[in-house]
Amino acid sequence: MKRDSFGSRFGALVALAGSAVGLGNLWRFPYLVGENGGAAFIIVYIILSFLICLPIFICEFVVGRRAQENAYSAFRDLSGGSWWKYVGLMTVIVPLIVTSYYSVIGGWSVQYLFKALNFAFTSGETQSQMSTMFTDYVSSPWLPLFGHTIFLAVTVLVVGAGIKGGIEKFSKVMMPVLFVIVIGIAIYSMALPGAARGLEYLFNPDFSKITAKSCAAALGQAFFSLSIGFGTIMTYASYVSKKENVLFQSMATAVSDLSFALIAGIAIMPAVFAFGLNPQSGPGLVFETLPYVFSQMPVGGVVAILFFVALLVAAITSSISMVEVGVAYLVEEKKIARTWACLIVFAMCWVVGAFCSMSFGPLSEFKICGRTIFDFFDNMSSNILMTLGSLFTVLFVGWSLKKTDIY
Ligand code: PHE
Repeated sequence: MKRDSFGSRFGALVALAGSAVGLGNLWRFPYLVGENGGAAFIIVYIILSFLICLPIFICEFVVGRRAQENAYSAFRDLSGGSWWKYVGLMTVIVPLIVTSYYSVIGGWSVQYLFKALNFAFTSGETQSQMSTMFTDYVSSPWLPLFGHTIFLAVTVLVVGAGIKGGIEKFSKVMMPVLFVIVIGIAIYSMALPGAARGLEYLFNPDFSKITAKSCAAALGQAFFSLSIGFGTIMTYASYVSKKENVLFQSMATAVSDLSFALIAGIAIMPAVFAFGLNPQSGPGLVFETLPYVFSQMPVGGVVAILFFVALLVAAITSSISMVEVGVAYLVEEKKIARTWACLIVFAMCWVVGAFCSMSFGPLSEFKICGRTIFDFFDNMSSNILMTLGSLFTVLFVGWSLKKTDIY
């Protein structure tokens, strides 16, 4: 049977951009900017993205496009069947772990979209009431599982429909919608009285704020945002024609990812400053601070709906790229039908995700190496395994891949 592939250059590009643009851009980037002092952090982030992460991205792309197979088989076959296949196996397992907890936050976005559709962020509520609403929600045992289930179900439905008919089609429609929404919110946010202070915070660097810790945070974020070290870029690249230009696709993805992060910053920061709030509120920025901002601004109800639609779309296009890594492996290596492969991945990620979700509530006291289940998985995959995956990919291209395989 002929292997499925992307139908066009644009299709591949939006799918790759869809993987890169995600919660990392809309949720994590703005709060990291807030925590690490604004513009100076952004400059470090841009330099590290292009200097370190883009080359790694290109390596992953080269391997995938050359192999035209799932990540595990790519490492195994291009290395001539040596231990590199275990690296391949790692890059198949890690995105499944990440999907599990990513889906929990995706689920929060589902819930917040429902809240926005019910115009639940009303001006009568104080900021601390908004925070309490969020903490009550995430710590309740069952409610977050509902969002988690919906989010994961939509993800596997898209993946189940295949590369051309599912992932590409979905990304082609949703990615432009996502960009338009976020650009619209950014324009609106800049027009708010008092927005200038937010823009200054984003674009007027204070280099004394750069520390080793903020550089490490910028690097970690750049890795996560470009989706490298997880086998996702490799898997997507394997559906790209061998004639496709690696540099063009890689640059285009990196530029869309970066511009989206900046636009997200412009959509969020000016609004936060306009209402005199603190941008340093950490992970709660999107779910605690923003709902309050929406409740205060004119036509905030509509802006809230648009924002949470954007958050959800960004998250889904990223999680489909992670799920595809596992599904491609099961289909090609284990000869399991695509639908069954999707169901298996759904079941695995649902169970692990359910534990991650409950670690905000009933299981909050349960610790692995001093961390909650969610934090443990997040830290292990995004800090350790992702870096290892990237390192091995670069070593693989540099030392193991034949020169004739790199073009
Ligand atoms: N890049 C995605 C984001 O910014 C997350 C992601 C990581 C997706 C790894 C795929 C693989 O949210």
